[in-house]
Amino acid sequence: MNTIINDIEVLKAKTTKINEVDFDNLKFGSVFSDHMLECNFKNGKWQAPKVVPYGPITLDPSAKIFHYGQSIFEGMKAYKDAEENVWLFRPLDNFKRLNISAKRLAIPELPESYFMDGLKALLEVDKDWIPKKDGSSLYIRPFVFASGNGFHASPATEYKFIIATAPSGSYFSGEVKVLIEEKYSRSANGGVGYAKAGGNYAGQFYPTQLAIEKGYQQVIWTDDNTHEYIEEAGAMNIFVRINDTLITGPTSDRILDGITRKSIIELAKSEGIAVDVRKITVTEVVEAAKNGTLKEMFGAGTAAVISPISGFGYKDQDYTLPKLDDTFASYLKKRITDIQTNKAEDPFGWRFKV
Ligand code: PLP
Ligand code: COI
Repeated sequence: MNTIINDIEVLKAKTTKINEVDFDNLKFGSVFSDHMLECNFKNGKWQAPKVVPYGPITLDPSAKIFHYGQSIFEGMKAYKDAEENVWLFRPLDNFKRLNISAKRLAIPELPESYFMDGLKALLEVDKDWIPKKDGSSLYIRPFVFASGNGFHASPATEYKFIIATAPSGSYFSGEVKVLIEEKYSRSANGGVGYAKAGGNYAGQFYPTQLAIEKGYQQVIWTDDNTHEYIEEAGAMNIFVRINDTLITGPTSDRILDGITRKSIIELAKSEGIAVDVRKITVTEVVEAAKNGTLKEMFGAGTAAVISPISGFGYKDQDYTLPKLDDTFASYLKKRITDIQTNKAEDPFGWRFKV
């Protein structure tokens, strides 16, 4: 049946898969809700978005996404509170970042209403898919890719914007040990590191596999020029705590401007925690680990939330972080998730009611 929600056409799925899902044991991003938002760019403009049943899409083998990797995405979460209200966290920031990525990848930028109203319509139709259990949420994946055809190495003339959602539990299942990278690079000045481009992730898979073989879960990327500055992890920005100061590197051409990162900086400062946004050298982190002043390291991101790092490897040497009772990571994680899930006041105006 076709219905209209806020001028977005909705084509309902004939059946639901929701009864097959074990909401108490959700993995990350592996089951998908009944519907998706679909919007096509053709004849020089974005066409009206529609909510349609979630399912496969057909592409021509010459579609430029397959050959030239014109593809960008976002990561967001929807939360449901005890009164069944649905909340997003700083969604306009995701919209703006999608268009920053679009510009860099020569993809046509999206109108704000297509993103926001499309997302609201999708969440309205699939609201039963938003988990209520603590630590679970509906992970939202907006993405745009070149669906237009041709082997010519130039931007496509047709694109698809899709939002798919997946009820999800935590991103990491156990402890996170990281390897500080000395050889490979994720990004370079003038490159696409600041964009959420699919190829940024593909390029990380091989070095990350090598790290996993050595017993680590993630790579910490260092700058491509000297490998002396800590930049970010595969899917997270990085914070280190030396004594009682929280330090994170400044964003640049090479680093994704994480929404969790900037929220943590603001939140921590407002709670009286000393925060330094400055370049962090591998040498100082190794020295701090050796002399006991390195208290914590954690990753921050939408999927990973705040994920404590238990230790790191560098130049064939392993360093273990202390196991503290009260960590900035657990304090800030509780504060930010309480704000996200409407369990605490939101003095920053970050929470967005759907
Ligand atoms: N860095 C990278 C490479 C990421 O993929 C992500 C995840 O989105 C982040 C950082 C954290 O960004 P955000 O907090 O906006 O999710
Ligand atoms: C997110 O945190 O939403 C991301 O996009 C990271 C992803 C690679 C899982």
